[in-house]
Amino acid sequence: MSGIPLTEDLSAGAAVIVVGIDAAGRPAHPGLAEALATAGLVVGAARHLAAVPVPPGCPTVTLGPLTPALDRLGAAVAAGDHAVVLASGDPGFFGIVRRLRAAGLPLRVLPAVSSVAAAFARAGLPWDGAAVVTAHGRDPRPALNACRALPAVVVLTAPGAGAAELGAGLVGWSRRLMVAERLGTPDERVTWASPAEAAGRTWADPHVLLSLAPAAGAGGGTGPMRVDNQPAAAPAGGWALPETAYAHRDSMITKAEVRALAVARLRPRLGRLVWDVGAGSGSVGIECALLGAAVIAVERDPRAPVRANAARHGVDLRLVTGHAPEALRGLPDPDAVFVGGGGTDVLAAVAERRPDRMVVTLAALDRVAPAVHLLRAAGYAVEGSQLAAARLADLPGGSLRLAATNPVVVLTGERR
Ligand SMILES: C[S@@+](CC[C@H](N)C(=O)[O-])C[C@H]1O[C@@H](n2cnc3c(N)ncnc32)[C@H](O)[C@@H]1O
Repeated sequence: MSGIPLTEDLSAGAAVIVVGIDAAGRPAHPGLAEALATAGLVVGAARHLAAVPVPPGCPTVTLGPLTPALDRLGAAVAAGDHAVVLASGDPGFFGIVRRLRAAGLPLRVLPAVSSVAAAFARAGLPWDGAAVVTAHGRDPRPALNACRALPAVVVLTAPGAGAAELGAGLVGWSRRLMVAERLGTPDERVTWASPAEAAGRTWADPHVLLSLAPAAGAGGGTGPMRVDNQPAAAPAGGWALPETAYAHRDSMITKAEVRALAVARLRPRLGRLVWDVGAGSGSVGIECALLGAAVIAVERDPRAPVRANAARHGVDLRLVTGHAPEALRGLPDPDAVFVGGGGTDVLAAVAERRPDRMVVTLAALDRVAPAVHLLRAAGYAVEGSQLAAARLADLPGGSLRLAATNPVVVLTGERR
């Protein structure tokens, strides 16, 4: 094909050209006419097929169910024909590109303005911090709970899981809703409503829903609302996992009860870098990574199963094999550091890097006071506690007893 380059990946041969239909009201992508002119097949929702000049005689498939369309697309490409798929907005954003790729089809994508961008533009609001969730083709409750939890959320809706249903679920929450129906078409309508008002009306599909807390820009009073609109997702499998969730050598693992406090105190989240110094099994760093942080694990024993444990939990952390404090040299500055192994020389080297927070676990009591003094002298407010979990264990005959685990002192240093 000549003219407008369709994507960076201009591989030779037949391809499926996925063309976004703009939700902001702009004309079609300039590559559309050329794509249609050479197409052996055009696939799209009825409203999209009606919106573009499909050449007379060109076969079309109306969506509907996707599987028959995928079969037809595969056959067209195998026969050496280009095919065009019409989709809404940016087809790579909560769109059909995922399914087409999964089907192994060769793709070129011509995106348009997404309904999400168009809706925020209609509201005259920035959306770089907004959470985008979908109720399309799935249980709508997670999308509803995102609206309840966060100040600025946009929901891609579906028939039966739209502004009326979500509005009903938001009654009792202080939210202003904006419903954007049929964006970019002559029937476009944008309506501000309270949750109760949204619940009581019928809305045309397709529409997107903006859910805004007053402080997020919808006007009205401001409440005490979190400013970080996108908290790290809590890991589906939880954290403070039992030791059995990790390979470990000679019990070189921070116990679950201690790990729960240590990880909480490190405040891991997306955008923060955590060092796990003396990583052992890597369990503390891995749980920080599960909560969204970038992690560097420093461990002197090359046989320590940090990598295997990280792979098992599906997180990517950087492992530095070496002795602290030397191994810390040259590493990027951390936001928070867990020191599970190493002496005061390690603590001193870490404090020099000025992380916001340091969490130190100590089994040897004689090391507690020097560590506290060192951290205070380095400008950290320190608090500590001793944790001694006694775990339930079975006795013969159905009785239970308490089995003590070793006490550990947990210090938290917060930079003043
Ligand atoms: C599968 S998602 C596709 C999102 C699309 N890729 C985009 O960037 O806009 C389908 C949902 O997008 C929203 N949507 C798509 N086009 C729209 C439009 N023109 N006006 C309002 N909402 C639209 C609706 O919530 C619809 O149910």
